[in-house]
Amino acid sequence: MPQDTPSAPSDLLASAEELLETVPETDPDRVKLSRRHLLKIGGVAATAGAVPAAGLLLAERDKAEAAPARPKPTVGPAPVPVTLKINGKTETLPLEPRVTLLDTLRNRLDLTGAKKVCDRGQCGACTVLVDGKPRMSCMTLAISVQNRDIQTIEGLAKGDELHPVQAAFIEHDALMCGFCTPGFIMSIKSLLDRNPNPTLDQVKSACQGNVCRCGTYPKVFEAALAAAQQMPKAAAVKPAVAKPAPAKPSAAKPVKRA
Ligand code: FES
Ligand code: FES
Repeated sequence: MPQDTPSAPSDLLASAEELLETVPETDPDRVKLSRRHLLKIGGVAATAGAVPAAGLLLAERDKAEAAPARPKPTVGPAPVPVTLKINGKTETLPLEPRVTLLDTLRNRLDLTGAKKVCDRGQCGACTVLVDGKPRMSCMTLAISVQNRDIQTIEGLAKGDELHPVQAAFIEHDALMCGFCTPGFIMSIKSLLDRNPNPTLDQVKSACQGNVCRCGTYPKVFEAALAAAQQMPKAAAVKPAVAKPAPAKPSAAKPVKRA
């Protein structure tokens, strides 16, 4: 009957370790024994290439264990300078690394448009855009979005001129208490920037992280579709156009012979 033998280097390593367990740690010959056992296993396995590989694994492990552990760089808990780019304006302020983007916006920068409702990533009232994508600011550490492009509801209007999504919300009466409104508007703005002609299903899908406790969903979706008609189409991100395939070299023309 053929013996059950380890074949892969990892199996060999495991076997060597099992054998090593039988030798007391205080035994000065422990390292030598490990080599002897490994050779023994190698003899049994008789698999060309496997033994050197397992030996290398053991050597690597020993080297890693012997190397002094590198201290990991730590930041905080005291405040550190954090640079945020919000609505096109760059600000550097001292912040403890544990502070969320939402608290930074509301408590340090006086930008109270993003709402703190659940403070645990379940309602979307705190939605802002980071590099154009919706993000729950209550679940985002301010320090993690340094130098990224952050947009809040305060950055949408141009002077007295509301953004088309904001205007559509007013026109279609898409809010009651208004707590969810800034989050919905940011999610819809992000959608329309990417997809200027969304279907109703696409609007619903874009808003799936936003909860309205007053139940104004039908009006919100209506406003989103109406805003799509008003968005400056030129500003919309154009879908990537597939590059034309390189022309195939034409077949060699037959040479006319005289
Ligand atoms: S407050 Fe951030 S998801 Fe509810
Ligand atoms: S309007 Fe009140 S939660 Fe949406």
